[in-house]
Amino acid sequence: MLTGGGDCPGLNAVIRAIVRKGVAEYGHEFVGYRDGWRGPLENDSRPLGVPEVRGILPRGGTILGSSRTNPVKEEGGVERIVENLKGAEVDGLIAIGGEDTLGAATTLSDRDVKVVGVPKTIDNDLGATDYTFGFDTAVNIAMEAIDRLHTTAESHKRALICEVMGRHAGWIAWHAGIAGGANVILIPEIEFDVELVCEYIDRRFDSQYSPIIVVAEGAQPKGGTAATRDGSLDEFGHERLGGIAHWLEDQVRERTGHDARATVLGHVQRGGTPTAFDRVLATRFGLHAIDAADAGAWGKMTALRGTEIQLVPLQEATAELKTVPESLYREAEVFFG
Ligand code: F6P
Repeated sequence: MLTGGGDCPGLNAVIRAIVRKGVAEYGHEFVGYRDGWRGPLENDSRPLGVPEVRGILPRGGTILGSSRTNPVKEEGGVERIVENLKGAEVDGLIAIGGEDTLGAATTLSDRDVKVVGVPKTIDNDLGATDYTFGFDTAVNIAMEAIDRLHTTAESHKRALICEVMGRHAGWIAWHAGIAGGANVILIPEIEFDVELVCEYIDRRFDSQYSPIIVVAEGAQPKGGTAATRDGSLDEFGHERLGGIAHWLEDQVRERTGHDARATVLGHVQRGGTPTAFDRVLATRFGLHAIDAADAGAWGKMTALRGTEIQLVPLQEATAELKTVPESLYREAEVFFG
């Protein structure tokens, strides 16, 4: 198996569940490829038995390492992986990853590599599954940060702006904003009017409370563009987002005359121990993934539909980016200002 893309809490729980059930019930043997697709590309793997997965359930990150290596972009990359898997007598591959990792898995599956996918991302933006593990942990970390921002904002009568991750989906912002009692939530799906944001801020100050603004890293003002770090792209063509909170900080200060400060949560949201929800979802995904591999259900990925884990075609992982619907966003508006 391998873990690819940005890491997230719960990856180790998946690995543990696959190995524990795979060994105990099916008598399979496992190797773990290191650093996502770099592992099978360079034949870099490590043994993965029950002793290696002891104690890893609550640990954040991934014991296998991760990377954003794109084997499809690499000259002859797919052929090399096919050869290396054959050479190592690997019967099947379980790829644990988001849109990018599972997209590459789909390409390999189309070339007859036996792959089962497990979806992960803190962004929760994969259309095929109701939830991805890692998301709940990220939301809880952001919520706790917002709770803390409220008290310091009140002490100094400041507007505090909290930037959260999520790339082009506002799920973390929306959930953390609601759970943390934010006074404004800004998401990538709906361009925001900075004048209106400042009105909300003024209104909040008028009621003798200090506003907390939660902004998704991909959010953008009307007619503007998303803030990016340096315009560079990763191997899958994604820009590095970030900086909208600092832009807003200046706008709020200039337009309202109130003091404002930005907090960018960044990778804190991806680190540390997973919540119970994520441990359970990750474990169930792992159990169903090894069942699928044992049954020869290749080209499929695990997905949560309601409370059931189902197997869906791997292509569905990348078919649709799941974004926050406008109606859901509007539900939060009653708390703005
Ligand atoms: O997809 C997960 C994610 O954390 C996004 O929310 C964020 O935009 C991106 O990865 C950050 O990537 P990196 O870890 O490469 O900085």
